[in-house]
Amino acid sequence: MNVLLLGSGGREHAILRALRKSACVDRIHAAPGNAGMSAETPCHRVDPMNPDAVIELAYALKPDLVIIGPEGPLCLGVADALRNEGYVVFGPGRQGAMLEGSKSFAKAFMKRHGIPTADFDICVSLSDVSAALARRRPPFVIKADGLAAGKGVVIADTVQEAKDAASGMFAGSFGESGKTLLVEDFMAGDELTLLTVTDGTTLRTLVPSQDHKRVFDHDKGPNTGGMGAFAPVPWLDAGLMDRIRREILDPTVRGLQSERIPYRGALYFGLMITPEGAPKVVEYNVRFGDPETQAVLPLFEEDFARALLACAEGKLENAPWRNASQFAVDVVLTSGGYPGKYPTGIPITGIREAESMDHVSVLHAGTALKDGELVTSGGRVLNVVATGNTLEEAIERAYRGVECISFDGAHFRRDIARKGRKGGMMS
Ligand code: GLY
Repeated sequence: MNVLLLGSGGREHAILRALRKSACVDRIHAAPGNAGMSAETPCHRVDPMNPDAVIELAYALKPDLVIIGPEGPLCLGVADALRNEGYVVFGPGRQGAMLEGSKSFAKAFMKRHGIPTADFDICVSLSDVSAALARRRPPFVIKADGLAAGKGVVIADTVQEAKDAASGMFAGSFGESGKTLLVEDFMAGDELTLLTVTDGTTLRTLVPSQDHKRVFDHDKGPNTGGMGAFAPVPWLDAGLMDRIRREILDPTVRGLQSERIPYRGALYFGLMITPEGAPKVVEYNVRFGDPETQAVLPLFEEDFARALLACAEGKLENAPWRNASQFAVDVVLTSGGYPGKYPTGIPITGIREAESMDHVSVLHAGTALKDGELVTSGGRVLNVVATGNTLEEAIERAYRGVECISFDGAHFRRDIARKGRKGGMMS
């Protein structure tokens, strides 16, 4: 089969690698891709946020399956536009994508279907915010309603801090995304990610993973898009997994069905496990996570393209599905200064050496070719992914890979997967 993959991050490079292992795939095209992806498959300079350009590309390539990686095009309705033209698409339409595109929609959906999540208020003015804060104790959680590239959440320790954050959002710090806000109860506990695939009837899980959102070791510093991930999560036992399925996964699928929201694609469950051991939803995302995907897909043992095609055709029930009982770790290398301002165009060396190591692979995110030389072009630059029979082995291999790579100002966390290493909950 011929596949068109939309997106350009580490997640899409991980998807590309998984597709390349699929026996049923003849050709893969990506748009726009990145420097690493373009070394492996033809990449097209087409913006996934431009539905007309995507359809024109699909018309030229005639893919049997289109996979939409990032949330932006999904929320824009690119999947609907492609389906209207007769293409088979992995990724929800605009209606399903509201689960990520509008946090107030997602929270109201959870409330309607009895899915456990933090209590919340929807606010459209500062007086709404004041009233919502008065009902709560610190810390306060303030969230922009719409897409904000992972930056739309503020945890405030004081009422004044919360009001300042809300004022900034109302004033347009996140554009239209911040015109409606949520004030939520703070949830303590351990966060984990469950990446799933659903065709609206059947839901299959990939191995549970954990992200590392803060830029510095020991979860210090500002939030980023994600500094690394590991999978599976050693403390997530079968009993808790069963509870997550009963209380969260199944009611979500039933909710989509009962509201007649068609859904064929990835569904990301950001979960909090409270100190009492109860699972609650922090957020839904309507695509695979980044960087979780980079750690999770190397552990998928079946034919990934076949599974995604089956999902896109509404036949997921028939697709072979098996996860390996190994471990994987992804360490993200960023440009110096990220998530603030950072330089680009810095030469990168050592990728070949890292990739020559057994069980180590390097996935590109913010890279470009300049006069034939590989240079940095974004905040998150590369992912070094390693697998192992133990978490310890995967950690050690990943960091040996990281040591091979260098570019001026490169930054990475040295404690990725340490919270899994302890073999227990952190808080
Ligand atoms: N790792 C967080 C996300 O993909 O949104």
